[in-house]
Amino acid sequence: MKGVILHGGHGTRLRPLTHTGPKQLIPVANKPMSQYALEDLRDSGVNDIAIVVGDSLSNKVQNYYKNGQEFGVRTTYIHQKQPNGIAHAISLAEDFVGDSPFIVYLGDNLLKGKIAEFVKVFKESNFDAMILLCKVKNPQRFGVAKFDKSGNLLELVEKPKEPPSNYALTGIYFLKPIIFKIIKGLKPSWRGELEITEALQGLLDSGHPIGYKFVTGWWKDTGTVEDILEANRLVLDDIKKEAEGIIEENTSIQGRVTIGKETIIRRGALIRGPAIIGRSTVVEKHVFVGPYTSIGNNVKIKRGEIENSIIMDGCQIEINGKITDSLIGAGTTLTTNQRSPKGCRLVVGENSRIVL
Ligand code: G1P
Repeated sequence: MKGVILHGGHGTRLRPLTHTGPKQLIPVANKPMSQYALEDLRDSGVNDIAIVVGDSLSNKVQNYYKNGQEFGVRTTYIHQKQPNGIAHAISLAEDFVGDSPFIVYLGDNLLKGKIAEFVKVFKESNFDAMILLCKVKNPQRFGVAKFDKSGNLLELVEKPKEPPSNYALTGIYFLKPIIFKIIKGLKPSWRGELEITEALQGLLDSGHPIGYKFVTGWWKDTGTVEDILEANRLVLDDIKKEAEGIIEENTSIQGRVTIGKETIIRRGALIRGPAIIGRSTVVEKHVFVGPYTSIGNNVKIKRGEIENSIIMDGCQIEINGKITDSLIGAGTTLTTNQRSPKGCRLVVGENSRIVL
């Protein structure tokens, strides 16, 4: 069994963060989103993994995963020059896959339940494809499955205006090489993409058996800032209490908090879990790090309060107030203006969003 992680796309709804890196590298609980996919594949015994990277900043993906050794896998990189859709990205992996069954995992999909048991089911089945479904409130946003009364899969529709069910296709597909033949016959959809949902429909139409399973626990596809903050909360809900750094006396660490190596939490700081604080970070006295917050590596928080937020590596924060529901990109400095004239002084990149 081989694995294919899709790591392309433009991530327009996550600008400006996606001006400097692919969205799948945005950290959730201090780990790039796509690393959850890679580790889920690895933990299911899939060690030979192709990563399909997009047309911009793909070097960041290669710099991070390298040859995969550090993560216990072997990685191969495939370049998708244009974002022509999931089925197009999959078609580029034909040579890599050869005649092996394989799993496609969208690099921006997070799954609590893990896929190991589904891999086993697929291996032992005669299915030419297997999909994972999740009950959602907003099926219009996804590919959706239609069943008959006995639970047979009848149809798969991409972003239907009138969804035939509440069961969305998650971005995890168990496939066999027959899919490449079907993809070759696809035409671009209304959004100009080769759709995996249509390829699967093509399989169904030509009588190939498709299995389905329901995810256990939560599943999150992360297109927006709100999605990422929610994914962060979901992952932090399972975080362990684990402290490796230096925690001075008279610090208050409440609930489940993970603290990385060489991090210093100064006297009088309050960290309320669930939260994670990375390596070589300093949290000074009287700082409050509130629930559902991820603080990266080499961060300095000198003053202020932070809640329900992701603060990426190398940030410096010294503010009078509170940051909440925020995604702060790596290397950002946030300070309170102490000088006259009073007022906010901002140096802000393109497509930023600021709520003062
Ligand atoms: C894609 C698929 C869709 C699936 C979703 C899961 O949507 O086309 O069928 O439900 O991934 O994340 P997209 O993210 O391209 O809108």
